[in-house]
Amino acid sequence: MWTTVGLLLCAVHVAFAVVYLYLTWHHKYWEKRGVVTAKPLTILGSYPGVLADKSRSLILDVEEVYNKYKAQHRAVGTFLTRQPQLLVLDPALAHEVLVNKFSDFRDTITSSYVGHNPDDKFVQGSPFFSAGDEWKKKRTENGGGLTQNRLKMAFTIWEQSGKKLIEYIERARQEKGDVIETKDLAYRFTANTMADFIWGIDAGSLTGAVGEIGHFQKTSTDWTFNAFKSIIKFNKSLVAPFLRKMLQMRFFTKASDEFYLQLTRDALKLRQSGSGSERTDYLSHLIQLQQRGNSITDTVGHALSVLLDGYETSGAVLYHMLYTLSEHHDEQEKLRSELMEALDSEGHISYEQLSTLPYLDQCLNESLRLTTPIGFFMRICTKPTQLDLGNGKVLDMEPGTSVMVPAYQFHHDDAFYPEAAKFQPDRFYNGAATVLTKRGCFLPFGDGPRICVGMRVGQLSVKTAILHILSQYRVEQTKKVPVGADTGLGIFLNGDVELKYTKLQK
Ligand code: HEM
Repeated sequence: MWTTVGLLLCAVHVAFAVVYLYLTWHHKYWEKRGVVTAKPLTILGSYPGVLADKSRSLILDVEEVYNKYKAQHRAVGTFLTRQPQLLVLDPALAHEVLVNKFSDFRDTITSSYVGHNPDDKFVQGSPFFSAGDEWKKKRTENGGGLTQNRLKMAFTIWEQSGKKLIEYIERARQEKGDVIETKDLAYRFTANTMADFIWGIDAGSLTGAVGEIGHFQKTSTDWTFNAFKSIIKFNKSLVAPFLRKMLQMRFFTKASDEFYLQLTRDALKLRQSGSGSERTDYLSHLIQLQQRGNSITDTVGHALSVLLDGYETSGAVLYHMLYTLSEHHDEQEKLRSELMEALDSEGHISYEQLSTLPYLDQCLNESLRLTTPIGFFMRICTKPTQLDLGNGKVLDMEPGTSVMVPAYQFHHDDAFYPEAAKFQPDRFYNGAATVLTKRGCFLPFGDGPRICVGMRVGQLSVKTAILHILSQYRVEQTKKVPVGADTGLGIFLNGDVELKYTKLQK
């Protein structure tokens, strides 16, 4: 009997030792290479927020490490759970990784999050989730439908959405008063533009009853919520990536896949029957790609790649910008003057003019700096290469090791932006954004060959909504909204954004 108990105890100890060794196997990785290391915890690594649920958050953990080591070092060795990851602290080094040495750091961690479940096929259509040559192909195909020229031809979609937005605000004011929950408003606008641009349909988000959420918007909200939850879930699975295949982990849900597949089939059928055949939109681009051999899976994949950020990220940028402007009356007035001056007697503006209004650009850039919806990027080293870490230390990077660029922290660092917490659009006066991006400290859309492929679409959506709203209403805050990092991927306004819309006297 005692022998059996002894053997069992021994087995338990061995099992614990094996797990402990597995979890800590790499923990001397940076030390062995002479790199300053942010001391890891056994399972949690340097960022407990990856695995913890509510009590911590990845982006705030990154902030802690960043603040501790910045200014003394160009980079610090960290552990994403058990995996070694280099946290870049110097924007010039970030520029090197994202731009100059792009071919050595070509892939992203998110590309390792797909392909574990053969049914989860639409997510693989997005460049965001692709690697290697497949990424290049997806990016070229995806970006081909988002060029400046194409957006210029599709500009009517945004103009009409802007008009519908104002009609919706008017109906809301008449039915419910001047105070409108602006997160809801922003997502109604981006749902409308994206449904029209991608599928050529009216989502009903601005034309339906006030407060009612239609089927398209409801599905898209649930779908994006699930996609962000999936990123968090896959971040957690970094502790044991082999589980992904075993558990057949998938990114998008089966139900949402079926919804968007049917929607795309219906939209293609309608367009091919001649309806809307004169339009230049994303659907017409997808049809051209199909004629060159793309499958329906490729088509839905591309459509969803545009929807994800075209709906969610652009909507988030819009309500944050409105909230910030509602707090900064002088800047709002100055922006309004620029917008009013640009509108012709019929209230129109051209695509080119809207894209190049200098103060609108400054306000958007400053708002993006403060919000930074995608707060960090994780690149994987794809070729043996070297990084100069300063003080004579040159690090040999091994393929497979990842690097984190903390865009949010750069954007909030007083060293690069004096009084960084303040909204000061003049920081971006006279094309400063380009200079700051080249220095590696302004990265709201990333940089280098993997820079956001939909940057122009996001800018166009936000600028159009701001133009229409500010030329008709004064927007004021009714209450402060706290910020929170509950997803761990960014820091956002946490709660309803109740703003007051007062019609301007003309
Ligand atoms: C204002 C809104 C937006 C912001 C702030 C934003 C920001 C970003 C950022 C920071 C990245 C990562 C870049 C990097 O890793 O270096 C990214 C990538 C990407 N974005 Fe956006 N984005 C926005 C809107 C859009 C829109 C509207 C689309 C689609 C039309 C889009 C599609 C993508 C795709 C597909 C990628 C992956 C690109 C690649 O890896 O090659 N984004 N975005």
